Amino acid sequence: MSNAPIGIGLLGYGTVGSAVDRLLRARREDVTRVVGAPVAIRRALVRDASAPRAGAPAAGLLTEDFAVIRDDPGIAVVAEVMGGVEPTRTWMLELFAAGKSVVTANKQLLARHGAELFAAAEQHGVQLRFEASVCAAIPVVKVLRESMIASEVTAVLGIVNGTTNFMLTAMAQGADYATVLAEAQRLGYAEADPTEDVTGADAAAKVAILASIAFHTRVTIDDVPHEGIDTLDSVDVAFANDLGYSVKLIGQARRVPAGVVVGVAPTLVPHTHPLSAVAGSFNAVMLRGDAIREVTLVGPGAGGDETASAVIGDLMGVLGTSNSGFLRADGFFRSLPIVPPAEVESPLYLRLDVRDEPGVLAAIATILAEEAVSIDSVVQRAAEGRALLVIVTHPAPEGAARRAIARIAELAFCEGEPVVLRVLPTT
Ligand code: NAP
Ligand code: HSE
Repeated sequence: MSNAPIGIGLLGYGTVGSAVDRLLRARREDVTRVVGAPVAIRRALVRDASAPRAGAPAAGLLTEDFAVIRDDPGIAVVAEVMGGVEPTRTWMLELFAAGKSVVTANKQLLARHGAELFAAAEQHGVQLRFEASVCAAIPVVKVLRESMIASEVTAVLGIVNGTTNFMLTAMAQGADYATVLAEAQRLGYAEADPTEDVTGADAAAKVAILASIAFHTRVTIDDVPHEGIDTLDSVDVAFANDLGYSVKLIGQARRVPAGVVVGVAPTLVPHTHPLSAVAGSFNAVMLRGDAIREVTLVGPGAGGDETASAVIGDLMGVLGTSNSGFLRADGFFRSLPIVPPAEVESPLYLRLDVRDEPGVLAAIATILAEEAVSIDSVVQRAAEGRALLVIVTHPAPEGAARRAIARIAELAFCEGEPVVLRVLPTT
């Protein structure tokens, strides 16, 4: 393994860029193993290097001069996380010409100029990766490009904008449009110009990218008719809810006999449909195809850390597949102990058949308390002098809970073996 750090350049040090820097530093050791050498961000481009900012850039990291990054021979790969179409397009072309691979989170740029950019990258023998441009932390680009290669994909549809899903979820509970949009901006979900989110333009760019890679045909943002939630009346969200529907901003790309149909629009989704349950800034993409039938990917669709994780994944994809990087070699570099399940905390459901008399519940509660198992809820159903007692515990070490249950089963008023089921924790 080489000790010379591989240089990374950042175009942008905002919500996503500062998170890339922070996560790369926090995961330094793992990143070194993946790549086969240490990695260091050498420079990050911003508009105003003296502006106060939430991230904590190292002294000298920020620059206002793009040429410093383009001309630095120590920078092998650049993460473009500044957004916008120009000057970003021109600068990306200059980076390719300088022999640097680029990973980008910029869906507007790709959905408008993808053909030109991919051709330029190929011409210069460098890579252009774009996982972060669609659905932040969800690896849908990788799945479509790599895992689905043996399937004829027939449809890609779902929720592809985190800001509007966050807003619609809150509005369904009565929140006001302007307040919840401001909250999405504060949380770093929205675009620099949130008009792109609320008008559906952001989702349309993502649909163009997804359709292009799913169907292996060029679809641009101009091909995608889109409506947003900016014209949606909250009265219709409430009526839809009463009728058994959630309103979601749905992006779709389908293969039809005549070609490809694409679009983005607010859509009523039955409460029983899986997309109805996708809440907050989460996204979900359903992929349909001949061999795969249906695969649904769900996860965070916006946010600094969530997007940075996809950017870093792409950086590792570029760097880790060359030389001795771990992506080319044995991935098992840790030796973690195997932990007995009894030591892991889990909530449990207990059903006990007991005599219905004073002191029974107290005796059971005492044993649980002695084993440090805390009760979450209790339900009792009485029948002919006996009672079915159901107890759900808070998370507790399974070993302690099992000891308590064994002791309870010994009590004279307890009949038969207690029934014990695991409860899936909420987090
Ligand atoms: P942001 O917080 O507004 O940050 C943009 C950064 O780029 C800032 O540091 C800004 O400099 C710099 N910048 C912008 N234009 C520049 C220019 N012309 N010259 C030099 N520097 C420039 O944006 P973000 O939320 O991090 O988003 C960045 C990209 O990621 C966008 O393409 C966005 O669509 C994409 N994305 C974002 C998310 C998300 O959840 N936020 C998710 C997926 C994809 P200053 O700091 O000096 O202003
Ligand atoms: N503004 C975008 C969204 C960021 O809310 O989905 C992720 O692309």
